[in-house]
Amino acid sequence: MSINKIAVLTSGGDAPGMNACIRAICLACEHEGIKTLGYNHGFNGLLTQESRNLHASDVHNLIQRGGTILYSARCEKFKSLEGVQLAADNLDKQEVDALIIIGGNGSFLGGEHLQKVWKKPVIGVPGTIDNDIAGTDFTIGFHTAIQTAVESIDKVRDTAEAFERIFLVEVMGREAGNLALDSAISSGSDHVLVPELFSSAAEELVGILDKLAIRKRNKTNPSHIIIVTENLWPGGIHVLADSLTAETGFDVRVLTLGHVQRGGSPVSKDRLLATRLGTFAVESILNGAKGMMVGESHTKPVLVGLEESRSLKKGLNSYSVDILEKITRLG
Ligand code: F6P
Repeated sequence: MSINKIAVLTSGGDAPGMNACIRAICLACEHEGIKTLGYNHGFNGLLTQESRNLHASDVHNLIQRGGTILYSARCEKFKSLEGVQLAADNLDKQEVDALIIIGGNGSFLGGEHLQKVWKKPVIGVPGTIDNDIAGTDFTIGFHTAIQTAVESIDKVRDTAEAFERIFLVEVMGREAGNLALDSAISSGSDHVLVPELFSSAAEELVGILDKLAIRKRNKTNPSHIIIVTENLWPGGIHVLADSLTAETGFDVRVLTLGHVQRGGSPVSKDRLLATRLGTFAVESILNGAKGMMVGESHTKPVLVGLEESRSLKKGLNSYSVDILEKITRLG
């Protein structure tokens, strides 16, 4: 099958490095004499045919920009067979020979559905700050999100120390703890709560209080930074804050990092990953890949079935888990 036109879209939560990936795809296509078409607003753009041609000049000075020039969205209509069929028909109308989807698990599910009704290749590129996609060591945006969290935690630590306060820092991650875990380790935080290791609110509270008691015995500054994955604490993070105040009498403050972690210029690791994966996605299409995700495992490019990647659970990085307890500050 000859490939004359490759389309690209970004879908789901935007992630720093998505633009770098669009750039790489466009440049790799141009190198091969292939046209690039960008769809706006994720899968919605496929349904409404909101697209534009991308040339090297359109992606000039793009590698460092956060967000996505193609906009992103979540698309309810794409969950129906009707929506997916319309997308396939529109791709054919626009003479697209392959589609690259930059996004997370939800976007890959859309890609899987499309691949079932559309004969041409659909390729996924993992782009999400959550790093919750199985089959690739890292996802585009993860390292920048950690960097953003670490910079904020460093700042909050100063005021925590000054006031001898406990700070609860809520980070994103949806249902995955990798972002919280690696943010906690990189910032030298005192405690981290992640869904994969969460037992019960009562037990986790005891664990935190034990650490605070050790701090008190050692007569060190009692300030404490606790990283909490969003949506984790029953009733919300403020319930944990109230319990800690009640148990310890300390001032407890909550800092929700939220969407700040999704923004900003990508760090070099994300630019590199985005550029490699974007280029590899184009190369894989030319080599006949279909219904696959491009990723990296042990620094080497890999192809994993979209379905396989989505059905496997990534889990926490076990290496990070192993060292967590050993390096968590007790003194
Ligand atoms: O998947 C990326 C992510 O930022 C998650 O960490 C978070 O739970 C979710 O998206 C937030 O989505 P929205 O921007 O739609 O509120």
